[in-house]
Amino acid sequence: MPPMKAFYLTTAIDYANGSPHLGHAYEKVLTDVVARFQRAQGREVYFLTGLDEHGQKVQQSAGKKGISPQAFCDAIALEFQDLCLNLSISNDDYIRTTEERHKQVVGEIQQALFDKGEIYKGRYNGFYSARQEQFLQDKDRNEDGSWPEIFGDVFQISEENYYFRLSRYQDWLIRFLKENEDFIFPRFRQKQVLEFLKEPLNDLCISRPKSRLAWGIPLPFDQDYVTYVWFDALINYVTGSGYMAGDTSRWPADYHVIGKDIMVPAHSIYWPIMLHACDIPLPRHLLVHGFWTTEGAKMSKSTGNTVNPLHLADRFGTDSFRYFVTREMKVGQDSDFTVEQYMRRYTSDLGNDLGNLVNRVLNMVGRYAGGIVPGVEVEEEPEGELKDLFHSTHGKVVELGQDFQFHTALEEIFQFIRAINRYAEIRAPWKLARSERAEDRILLDTALATLAEGLRLAAVWLWPVMPGISEKIQTLLGLEAGFDIAENLVWDYRVVGKSVGGKTILFPRPESK
Ligand code: ME8
Ligand code: MG
Repeated sequence: MPPMKAFYLTTAIDYANGSPHLGHAYEKVLTDVVARFQRAQGREVYFLTGLDEHGQKVQQSAGKKGISPQAFCDAIALEFQDLCLNLSISNDDYIRTTEERHKQVVGEIQQALFDKGEIYKGRYNGFYSARQEQFLQDKDRNEDGSWPEIFGDVFQISEENYYFRLSRYQDWLIRFLKENEDFIFPRFRQKQVLEFLKEPLNDLCISRPKSRLAWGIPLPFDQDYVTYVWFDALINYVTGSGYMAGDTSRWPADYHVIGKDIMVPAHSIYWPIMLHACDIPLPRHLLVHGFWTTEGAKMSKSTGNTVNPLHLADRFGTDSFRYFVTREMKVGQDSDFTVEQYMRRYTSDLGNDLGNLVNRVLNMVGRYAGGIVPGVEVEEEPEGELKDLFHSTHGKVVELGQDFQFHTALEEIFQFIRAINRYAEIRAPWKLARSERAEDRILLDTALATLAEGLRLAAVWLWPVMPGISEKIQTLLGLEAGFDIAENLVWDYRVVGKSVGGKTILFPRPESK
């Protein structure tokens, strides 16, 4: 039997022409949450991210610094790889488009398309935007005939290039999208693609003359040209899977996670057609997220000046950053990043709800039970209610996670955390501990075990979003940290008899930072 295909997950590969920002960080966190959530369900996951290094913009940025494009990209690659480390991203590989393995695959795919007659040479007379590396048409003009800002300097050129026969596949793509309604998540995005496809597609210019742009992958069939950056970049997903080298354990991708700005035309039009034209299976889905704006961070009153959201991860911990972006953004929608809201989530959800619970459990087990979680001897209504809530929440969390509704899944988990805190108020172990009655001692033991077990289960749920905090809590409870849902999300009092850690502040108050 062939080995089971891994759940293959990719992010967009980031442009090497600038430093990482909130959008890059978010996309990596989102993809990592999906990856970890799949792993928690027992699936083998292969997670690829990387860097998009070729093209005019990188050549220009390097030129301005007076260094070679390669040296420029090497420095940026370190910044992006650091970002992955700092955000606890669990990618299995990091691909750079300047790597030999990638150039090889791009060459093979182009040669195959050329041999099949899918690529031809033609002459273009018209306008060109260097900033967008794009040939322009009259329909791209403003109403007054001028060119929109985003194109930068626009100049007229007449040049021979290679074209990919995109137009040939327009009807096929429309049919494919209609037959595969869940190709793009969320579904309303798929309608946008079909809308775009109402206009006839032009063939895609996939080359740039070397005389004008040197920083690219040479065409295998004409060394005077390099590959258009998008045509090169998209192929990273296949390169990284090992498919062209004969490894079929990953491709096709289960999800390409991308932002909404690169869905049309690159990922929903060029990419499926490129693959289809050379008989490579299509990815199963695109997961298209929305955009973060940072107006709120810019206007922050509490700090007086502009805030780089990434600094909040350094200051308040990686997991608080992962929590915030996952809790605040409904996947597919846009969201505004504000420092005030970050601080609200940090102090209220993380500090008051979760942090306090951890403290209470550690303190009380230390004080009233010598640091060892006692056994359970009775289960009454309050225990039964909490257990019921655990079970009903569990079903919801798994379902919501499968549907990428991580923000609501977190809301459910925090409702459970708040219910554990309420349970503590109801049982009031601090009162039971002062009583001399034997029944109260039994209730005290029960309460401590129930609190610790509830906390353990909440920690396991949180693992995909807050892996560091989850592991820390489980370790503080005297357990080996686990994340597998089937194995660990069972209310079985496995905390009983474990020796817990001492007082630990997981989310220090901001003023003490
Ligand atoms: O587009 N909010 O690279 P990139 C959310 N190299 N996501 C954002 C964002 C924001 N404010 N800004 C950017 C590229 N992104 C190409 C991809 S893939 C074969 C090649 C997302 O560095 C953006 O949507 O401009 C994209 O998914 C990713 O960050 C990288 O953007
Ligand atoms: Mg961009």
